Amino acid sequence: MVQSSRIAIIGAGSVGTTIAYAILLQKISSEILLVDINQDTVRGQILDLSDATFVASTQIRAGTYQEAGQCDIVIITAGAKQRPEETRNKLIERNYEILKHVIGAMKPFNQNVILLLVANPVDVLTFIAQKLSGLPKQQVFGSGTFLDSTRLRLKMAETLKIAESAVHCYVLGEHGDTQIIAWSSAHVGGKPLIDFPEIRKLDKEKVAQEIIGKANEIIKLKGSTYFGIAGCVSSLVQCIVLNQRHIRPLSTFVEEYGCIFSMPCVLGNKGVNRIVDVYLNDEEKEKLRKSAETLKRICENY
Ligand code: LAC
Repeated sequence: MVQSSRIAIIGAGSVGTTIAYAILLQKISSEILLVDINQDTVRGQILDLSDATFVASTQIRAGTYQEAGQCDIVIITAGAKQRPEETRNKLIERNYEILKHVIGAMKPFNQNVILLLVANPVDVLTFIAQKLSGLPKQQVFGSGTFLDSTRLRLKMAETLKIAESAVHCYVLGEHGDTQIIAWSSAHVGGKPLIDFPEIRKLDKEKVAQEIIGKANEIIKLKGSTYFGIAGCVSSLVQCIVLNQRHIRPLSTFVEEYGCIFSMPCVLGNKGVNRIVDVYLNDEEKEKLRKSAETLKRICENY
């Protein structure tokens, strides 16, 4: 099914181009624009990607920032990437300047555009993008802990030997070191996840550290992560384009905690329709409050 959506991807690095490829294969957009300051990189990536456009009737071409600002969805991946053992928050100074430039260059925006932040630290960059773009907040959000949640879901599905889609569990808060696993609301077939004997046996703290550390493990082995995030982002794009209103943990402003981080959101063609106030026990709430404090302190500087 080909929709008439125009999607711009800012940043033609491995994350941006793998997202372009994943969107292309999903056959959900009529045109994909790739934008990057390095013209040779864009040209090379476009030539390579164009060899795959026969699988879908999607045009893929180089675009300008001005054109990107007029698209239906803009996916922002531009920015420095994590080095081994570096936290995502260490990237903020470098990536703030890049984001500021990108947003300035895209203005004036199509007032219905959706800005989907992917570059890290995604929660802080979403805060900055909301501020600098002046767009309605529901249209500016980040991929957040969707990827962490899929990592957790995979781990649980493997442990229980069931389909990933049967596991309902969320990683919430920061897409980073202070994130939490919402064990108390997680379930499979209506049964609390923590009541399954295989899950009860697991060292929960170890699982949490494994999920937090997975990106770093990949970075140490092959330099960067891109397939997981591309799978997540292309599925978010599908959800927006087809107005599917799935629940996804995304970086959005959460009133209760006074900051931008991930909570389960209803996602449709206007962006984040609403936030679901998932059940959390006192310990989980306290950890989220700490996660919020960390993020608020960083955001105060911008
Ligand atoms: C990761 C990057 C996208 O977690 O932050 O793989």
